[in-house]
Amino acid sequence: MTEDATTTGFGYGKVILLGEHAVVYGQPAIVAGVQAGVRAHASQGTGNLRVPAWQLDLQVGDDSPVGTAVDRLCQRLGVAGRSLDLWLEAEVPARAGLGSSAAMAVAIARAVAVRTGAGEDDVLAAAAAAEAVFHSTPSGIDTAAASRGGVGRFDRVAGWQSIPVKQPIEICVGLSGQARQTSDLVRSVAELSERAPVARRLIDALGDLARAGMDALSSGDLEALGHEFNMAHGLLSGLGVSTAELDALVRAARAGGALGAKLTGAGGGGAVIALAPNRADEVLKRWRSLGCYGFLTQVGA
Ligand code: MEV
Repeated sequence: MTEDATTTGFGYGKVILLGEHAVVYGQPAIVAGVQAGVRAHASQGTGNLRVPAWQLDLQVGDDSPVGTAVDRLCQRLGVAGRSLDLWLEAEVPARAGLGSSAAMAVAIARAVAVRTGAGEDDVLAAAAAAEAVFHSTPSGIDTAAASRGGVGRFDRVAGWQSIPVKQPIEICVGLSGQARQTSDLVRSVAELSERAPVARRLIDALGDLARAGMDALSSGDLEALGHEFNMAHGLLSGLGVSTAELDALVRAARAGGALGAKLTGAGGGGAVIALAPNRADEVLKRWRSLGCYGFLTQVGA
């Protein structure tokens, strides 16, 4: 590779099907990479970092969270971030529950790894170092999904295990348009479980739903998976991470014929997902009538 060659890396966006928040407490979760993600281009430069789709134009190593995170990532890969220019094409919205920061971190780590010859374990460790700047105690699920892309079971001990999916599943993703910070939501769940220890039972039940969801996925039982989505949304609301807007999107999806719908990711805004075989157009139409953008993605393809 010549010194001025541009190198490229990709990271997938993700939707958590079941088990968000519970995964922080050691429960399993089911996560799927979506086709959309972030593509990073790295070339020799002076530390410029641009993400036009997110209106970001900054310097690696400045004191912004992104500048700091990318600096740590580069350090982990043995490269001075200020010796590179990074230009990112982002297809997933930022701070919407779709794993944008992990997709960015994996994409940059891969683009840098091509220059240094680092392997996939180093890529994941570097992306995790960046994620720790944003979330302080990430479970690692977003980074795992950003690097793998398929459907997986994730827990903090065993990490990622691919889940066999009987046939690809169409998922409607609805964006509330409310930006939020994952770390604030994770902290609010931790505070709730300290104040009201019964919250730990909701967390355990979310883990049980994720376990049941694996069976539903492997056998292709979409009705069961839909019920599990609905129950999980109720539990997540009980943990205080839903919002009036997310509840409205979930209700609209169910009224439009979805088998199930729930918030996805940290909540507090961000996105919902709905399982609506043959009813996706109706669900997307109802979300539009609430002023919200939605799209269809296939998981397990
Ligand atoms: C965020 O995508 C998922 C959470 O469970 C946080 C984490 O696992 O790091 C809310």
